[in-house]
Formats: sequence, structure tokens, C-alpha cells
Amino acid sequence: MNLKGKIAIVTGSNKGIGEACVKQLIEAGATVHGICRSGCSFSHENYTCHHGDVRDYEGIKAIFEKVIDAQGSIDILINNAGLGYFSYCEDLHIDKWQELFDTNVNGVFYGCKLALPGMKKQGNGHIINIASIAGLEGYQQVSAYCATKFAVRGFSEALYKEVRESGVKVTCVYPGSVKTDFFRHSESIDAHDNMLMPEDVAAQILFALQTPDNFHNVNIEIRPLKPRG
Ligand SMILES: NC(=O)c1ccc[n+]([C@@H]2O[C@H](COP(=O)([O-])OP(=O)(O)OC[C@H]3O[C@@H](n4cnc5c(N)ncnc54)[C@H](OP(=O)(O)O)[C@@H]3O)[C@@H](O)[C@H]2O)c1
Repeated sequence: MNLKGKIAIVTGSNKGIGEACVKQLIEAGATVHGICRSGCSFSHENYTCHHGDVRDYEGIKAIFEKVIDAQGSIDILINNAGLGYFSYCEDLHIDKWQELFDTNVNGVFYGCKLALPGMKKQGNGHIINIASIAGLEGYQQVSAYCATKFAVRGFSEALYKEVRESGVKVTCVYPGSVKTDFFRHSESIDAHDNMLMPEDVAAQILFALQTPDNFHNVNIEIRPLKPRG
């Protein structure tokens, strides 16, 4: 129960990795505010699910302000909302490239921009940015998604150096394949049981969130042991 009394925001909270994080945060004693577009997946007295789109800065700002007004602070931000499109470069529609960057990159920036003033003022806080192993190495027909996750990696690495002296931790997480709905846009990959489970990723994040004040996990790379069985 190390996170008792902590206030957390999780984007992309109604399924997959985000939902697993919400449940484990509640279990650890935190009060959690989720953000997603298509509604709550479950209810709990310490969980509020807000309807929001991370691509919409003004809408997300209003949610952050509401949480701060009601709770006084944001202690934990998990920038998790994201999606993938997979195709050869020349076949990817411009709108999909834009949607990937608006969601996976701009959404992360908006969350950090909104949470940091309060975290710096209170002298502590923890931001978790969910990248991917696609932010560490390139894969063919994944170029646009890789570009967004490399951006999250660069942003996170710069940000941790920028805010550490204020007492704020920034951790970037690089999961390999996770068994979630993420692969619905892929023609060649179906989620399967040799992938990581969303609960595995959430557990590593919860571990990082409960480290003592004198150190932080800068990067967490998590891969399935036997990805092909
Ligand atoms: N699954 C993998 O293999 C894998 C591996 C490495 C990294 N990741 C990353 O992990 C994160 C979570 O993915 P997942 O696997 O849990 O996928 P998922 O099951 O498809 O869940 C994605 C979540 O993001 C939300 N979301 C998407 N676009 C949004 C938007 N514009 N505004 C607000 N919420 C939005 C979705 O809710 P709504 O649609 O209701 O908004 C949903 O809650 C993503 O950043 C993904 O890139 C996944």
C-alpha cells in the first residue's frame, strides 16, 4: 500500500496496459483518474474515468484542471494512450501518420506539460511514458509507429534530465509485444499467449513507482522470454 493517498492520471485507461495499471494503482492505494474516448471498463470507489481524447489539448487541460481542483495535486502521470498502424511507407495514408503523431507523441507532450508545474511546485511526482521496443529499433512496415516511439524516447530522456533536480522522476517504458487489442490494425500479427501480459507491464511500472526517493528507473525494457513459443 505504498501509494496510499497518491493521485494518479492514466491515459488510455479502459483496456490493455492502461487498464492493468489502473487496477494495480488502486490495489496499491492510489486514487486514479483515467482518460479514454470510449467509456469506462469497470468502476471502483477510488477510480474516476474521464471522457477525453489525448489529441485535444484544451479538452485534456480541462480534465487535468478538474482533477487538480478536486484533489489538490497530481502525483503520478502514466502517458499510455497510443495506437499503431502497420504498412509500407508509401501505402500509409497521410491521415494515419498524423493520427499516430497526434496521439503517441503530442498526447505525451500535453500530459507532461500539464502535470509538471504542480509536480515541480510540490517537489515530487512521477511521469511514466509508455514507448515500445519500436522506440529502440526499427522494424519494416512499422516505420511510422517506430518514428513516434523514437520521439517518445528522445523526449523522455531529455525530460528526465530537465526535471530530476526538482524531485520529479521520469521513466520511459519499452515493452515488447503485449497481448492486448493493439494489433487490431495489423494484418500479419495476432495477439497470442507468448506475448507479455498487460499485467506484467503494469507490475514493472508499479515497481518503479514505489522506488525510494533517492533514485529512479530511467528506462525499463521488458521483453517476452520466448516470443514465438
Ligand atoms: N500491445 C503491445 O504490443 C505494445 C507494445 C509496446 C508498447 N505499447 C504501447 O502501449 C500503449 C497501450 O497500448 P495497448 O497495447 O494497451 O493497446 P490497446 O489495448 O489498444 O489500448 C489503447 C488504449 O489507448 C486509448 N486511446 C487510444 N487513442 C486515444 C486517444 N486519442 N485519446 C485517449 N485515449 C486513447 C484506448 O481507449 P479509447 O480507444 O477508448 O480512447 C485504450 O484505452 C500504447 O502507447 C502502445 O503504443 C503496446
